[in-house]
This record gives sequence, C-alpha cells and structure tokens, in this order.
Amino acid sequence: MNKKITRPKKLRGTIVPPGDKSISHRALILNSIAGQTATIKGILESEDIQSTINCLKQLGVGIDIHNDGSYRVKGRGINGLKAADDDLDCGNSGTTIRLLMGLIASVNGTMRLIGDDSLQSRPMERVYSLLNKMGANIFSEQSNGCAPIIIEGKQLTTDKTIEMTIASAQIKSALLLAGLSSSGILNIVEPFKSRDHTERMLLAMGAKLNIHENKITINGDSNELQSIDIDVPSDISSAAPWIVAGILHPDAEIEIKNVCINQTRSGIIDIFLAMGARIEIMNKRMMGNEEVADLGVYSSSLSSTKVSKELIPRAIDEIPLIALGACFAKGKTNISNISELKVKESNRLTNTIEIINQFGGEIVSHEDDLLINGLNSLHGAKLYCDSDHRMTMLAGIASLISEEESELINVESVNISYPNFWNDFEKLCVS
Ligand code: S3P
Repeated sequence: MNKKITRPKKLRGTIVPPGDKSISHRALILNSIAGQTATIKGILESEDIQSTINCLKQLGVGIDIHNDGSYRVKGRGINGLKAADDDLDCGNSGTTIRLLMGLIASVNGTMRLIGDDSLQSRPMERVYSLLNKMGANIFSEQSNGCAPIIIEGKQLTTDKTIEMTIASAQIKSALLLAGLSSSGILNIVEPFKSRDHTERMLLAMGAKLNIHENKITINGDSNELQSIDIDVPSDISSAAPWIVAGILHPDAEIEIKNVCINQTRSGIIDIFLAMGARIEIMNKRMMGNEEVADLGVYSSSLSSTKVSKELIPRAIDEIPLIALGACFAKGKTNISNISELKVKESNRLTNTIEIINQFGGEIVSHEDDLLINGLNSLHGAKLYCDSDHRMTMLAGIASLISEEESELINVESVNISYPNFWNDFEKLCVS
C-alpha cells in the first residue's frame, strides 16, 4: 500500500490508541504460568502479539478469544509448560524471543527459537549469556549471538547477583521469568531503570519480589502466581505519533484517551514539556496496576533541549519522533547515549537521520548522540518505507506536518504494533 499525504488545514479529534504492546505480551506470558484462568481485555491485536500467542500455544497454553473480544488464558503453573515440538517462530518481535528465553530456560526438552530476517540479525547474547550464568544452556545456532537460538532446558539455580550493563526491560524480564522457576534468591541490578511492567504484574500476582531503586530480588523457591484479569491501557508508544503531530501542526487540538503514563515509559511527555509543548494530562487514574490518563495536545512553540542518558530508557521507542519534534525547536537539540537505537527492528539511529533529512531536516550523529538543528519548516519527500513499523509511522507524521505533498511507498509495516494507524491518521485530518 502507498500513501500520498498533504498537510491538512487542521488536526482535530479524539484517538484511542491500541493496547500497550509490552503489557499485552506480559499479560499473556505471565498468566500462562499462573495457577488459574485469566481474562485479558483491550489486548493489542497485532502481528507481534500474535507471535507470542502462537508460541505460548505451542508450549501447551490454552488461549481463546471470546465473543466480546477478550482473551482467556488458562495458566499451567510455573513449572507446567511443555516443550514445543516445532520451532518457536517469534516473527519480528524482540520482546517475544527475549522473554521466551527466560520463560522456557528450565522446560524439559530442546527447543529452537527463530524469527524474521530483522529479528535474526538482532543481538540475543545479551540475554542468554546472563541466563547461562544461572545454569541455563542456551546458545546461538550459528555462534553469531543471534537467532536461531537453541535452548536445552535445565533446572536453574540462582543465589546470585546479576549486574546488567544495559538498561533493557527485555533482558530484565527474561531474568525475572527464569528466576521464578529457579531455586534460590536472584538479585538483578540495572544501570538505569527500564520499563517495569513485569515487576508490577508479578507483584499483583503475588510473586515474592522486592524492589529497591534499581535492584530487584526474586525468591525462586516460593513462587506461585495467581492468575489476574487485566484491562490493557493504550500504548504511549502508539500515542506518540499523535503527540508529535499535535505539537508540530500549526492548528491542532487532539485528545488521546486511556494512555498508560507509567513513569518508566513517559519520557516523551517530560521531554516535550521541558521544550515548552502544550500537553495537558487529564483524568489521571489507575487501571489495574498501571497509571493511565487522557492527554490533550495542542499546537506549540518549542525550544531546544538536551536529553540526558537517564531519560533514554524512559523514551527509547519514541526517540525518532522526539527527533522530529526537535527539528521545529528554536536552537540545537542534543539527544545523548542512544546506541541502543542501532539494534532495534532496524538501525533507528541511521534511519531516523536518513528519513527526516529527506524532508529537509538537519540532523547529524556524533558517536552515540543525535544533534538536531531547529528549523521553521520541512518540505515533502518521496520515500520507500521498510519493515520497521516505527520508522513508517515517523515518515507518516513527517509527511503530515511538512509543507508540500509527500509520497510513501509500502506503508504496511504499521501492522506490527498499530494496525489501525492509517485510519486514525485520516480521522484526525480536517481539510
Ligand atoms: C520492550 C522493551 C524495550 C522496547 C521494546 C519493548 C519490552 O526494549 O524498545 O520495544 O516490552 O520490554 P529494551 O528494553 O530491550 O530496550
């Protein structure tokens, strides 16, 4: 599918972004090893989540969709998963493959995790090297640190402290999942706090977990999880395109409903507020164990900022859109320490620069920093979108706020995380 896009006169309306991707994965995975049956509402229905569902079914988990659109997950208990007979195909989903490594490290049998070309070129050793310190036997089939990953299930023993060198919720969650089925106490220490949905859900399920600043302690000897019903809030990463469109368009008033504003995810709001954006945070409330709000976003004048390294894990998937916002700020913006962007679904450090600069942006990278020159406008562009969903959405929003017509070729990759993206896009445009 291709799209021709011209800047509409106004952006108006209300959007309810789809369910949070990270919470949807975890709601399925953690309830799979709980003791009863759980109902999950508002789950993200996208390709990444389907990958997790398919893999869990292969591990023996009963997952059904009911008439009202909710999902029922029949938990098999912490040690109740069975080895999959065939390869576990994680598609494009980094969260699926990395969390699964921890989930099945101690399942009796040999299993193989595979994915698409993008996933099979992403680093996995950062996860399995730490799991192997807990006694797991996990390795890369081609010895290149990437999938296919082979897991030879083994009983894990812990009584260890694992110091993570990368602030990554995927690595942390894999360790926590492995810790649940191991014997002994496991301490996990992160350099900076990454998203904490796994910890919140585990606590709500009754896991023996202690959290003190960046250190988590889990007791593998005494864990039994209670299934919990979950209402999944909207994903701030899918709200992000509309936040940026609303701030940058000269005549915009957008309401974004039901957004999960968990502190470990809300870096985009803090960064844009510091730049002078008009973002209103309304109706703050709790939805299960996560904080949720409605956001009002209005046309704004921005000034430049320096985004420090502690903020990066809180905004990791939104950095490309934040860079687009910074193109319209007065002065030069510096976003530092973003080497992790290079190992996402694509190299988002180089792709962000390439895409935005085709619209006339002035962005350069220096080592692991992005330096963005503030301008008054961007012009249209014609570009070929690749398989990275967030890069396609970035190109969509750049087209929406640029002064001339743009043409985007192959825009389907949004199905990975936001299948309704282009409908919501049209819905906001008033010409
Ligand atoms: C995710 C964590 C982040 C994020 C990814 C989803 C998760 O990755 O980029 O899209 O659900 O845990 P890292 O924690 O590895 O940086």
